[in-house]
Amino acid sequence: MAVTLLTLLLFAGARSVSCQYNASTAIATPSKTTSGSSAFVTNFELSLDDYWDLFVGPVSTFSINTTVEPTPIPSSSLIPPPPLYYPSFPIGQQVPLQAKNESWSFPKDFWYGVAGAAYQIEGAVKAEGRGPSIWDVLSHRVPSYVITNETGDVADNNYYQYKEDIARIAALGIKAYSFSLSWSRILPFGSGQVNEEALRHYDDVIDTCLQYNIIPQVTLYHWDLPLYLQNSYGGWLGSEIVDDFTAYAEIVFNRWASKVHHWFTINEPIVFCGFYPLPVGFFKNTTIPPKQQPYVCGHNVLLAHANAYHVAKSVNSSLSVSFKTNGGYKIQRTNSSADAQAVQRAWDFQEGWFANPTFINGDYPPLLKDYVSTFLPNFTEEQKAHINGTADIFAHDAYTSDFIMAPDSGIDACTSNSSHSLYPQCYNTTKLYANNYWAIGPAGDPGTPWLNKATDWVPAFLHYMQDTWKPKGGIAITEFGISEPYEELRKDLASILIDPIRSSYYHDYLQAILIALSEGVNVVGTLAWSIYDNLEWTSGYGVKFGIQYVNLTTQERYFKASAFEYVNVFNVYLEK
Ligand code: GAL
Repeated sequence: MAVTLLTLLLFAGARSVSCQYNASTAIATPSKTTSGSSAFVTNFELSLDDYWDLFVGPVSTFSINTTVEPTPIPSSSLIPPPPLYYPSFPIGQQVPLQAKNESWSFPKDFWYGVAGAAYQIEGAVKAEGRGPSIWDVLSHRVPSYVITNETGDVADNNYYQYKEDIARIAALGIKAYSFSLSWSRILPFGSGQVNEEALRHYDDVIDTCLQYNIIPQVTLYHWDLPLYLQNSYGGWLGSEIVDDFTAYAEIVFNRWASKVHHWFTINEPIVFCGFYPLPVGFFKNTTIPPKQQPYVCGHNVLLAHANAYHVAKSVNSSLSVSFKTNGGYKIQRTNSSADAQAVQRAWDFQEGWFANPTFINGDYPPLLKDYVSTFLPNFTEEQKAHINGTADIFAHDAYTSDFIMAPDSGIDACTSNSSHSLYPQCYNTTKLYANNYWAIGPAGDPGTPWLNKATDWVPAFLHYMQDTWKPKGGIAITEFGISEPYEELRKDLASILIDPIRSSYYHDYLQAILIALSEGVNVVGTLAWSIYDNLEWTSGYGVKFGIQYVNLTTQERYFKASAFEYVNVFNVYLEK
């Protein structure tokens, strides 16, 4: 089906789309012939269902397909696990000889929570008026884009089981739940008519959090772009996205600003802008050169985020609003000056890409600017002022650390050669120490080669964030976690539930935060990724990040040992 040849237009305010096919053009007299297939367009209407059928096709559903009350949590599942290979903090399992460090503490209002994201956990993809997002197409239509060819159709069935999910984290003692809204539930075609059922659904998710004394934290965009916006103007590659995101933000903030204090506009733009170029043949074509596309996306993200921030503040100036950025600590691999330059390139092309404009001066960091100013418009002074200061906390998804070094051919040979494989970033990374023998720390699952436990560098990283971007509201680690290696291969429940690498990761990471706090870094919260195992994007369900296991056949949830490790440190070190 040659769907990419269709020109799709939204009828304002209607839940249908028109495709123009101009029959008179098609049978025009020879003197009026038109050439080029894109000149031939249709003009029939598509309903939301037609749109699903055309671009995605049939989707799977699960037997629990209406909102359910929480099932009771067996008290046996709330007993902490036996000690692992190191002593746990001195409560719960009382291990002799480990004393509490009296110079450590988390401030009383420190929030510790768990996170998930709509497409990874909700399922119910066609329920109650949700429109398709690009991820429905990527998972259904693009062969092996998700390497297991799995989809988010059912995922963790959170759309119907959220009450149980919230009850379970409350029973564990978790303080905050961070989730993302599905933009295409709220606006099935990304703009235009609002879907009331979706608003009522999220009303209840938020109210359920409040009922259980859980702080709701909401992200507006976690990668599931409404498909229609991608097909209309290239999604984040089109400047139209700025107004559409702003209009979406207005709906969201007007609805929930009175109930939700902690907001994140956009999740990890470095990652989803890096998904461009999208696979050819499934979405609207673009003529933007592939290596420029991530930065065009990033430019629109900054403008869209800044607008959303100002919308939020106009609704309620006391809200905490930020975007979430991501990246690991960058360790200079040798003391060569080339490696020192490589480290600076890495900061500029990763965190600095979004953090410098929002925290420092409204503009890109110098090394990134050298590249993007060859094809992006400069921000005007007005835009810089609009972007600068639009993050109340430094919300960072900081999973790991990397050794950074110059490319083998040298930095200059890379920056002057646009076909160099590392262009335009022109720095290299490795998980191996300079002896090329030892890894930086225990590896996660082979499905996440970017991720090793590297918690020793967390204090240095937190200092770097505070010193460089000086966030006025402090730093939050808004995602951290590790894929327990080969967890998918464990078949019996008892082996799945003890996850020693993940447990030691949380133990050591939180200890590192305690050290940084004791040294004066203002860390205000943490969100463990993830509330439970879920669709790990292109890796499918085989790579697991959950502190809970989910049996995907029955949709039953079980706490893993790491869930207790995570909470226990707060039981010991949170100021009363
Ligand atoms: C983050 C992302 C999450 C999750 C996590 C683990 O980059 O925001 O959605 O997939 O990584 O890989």
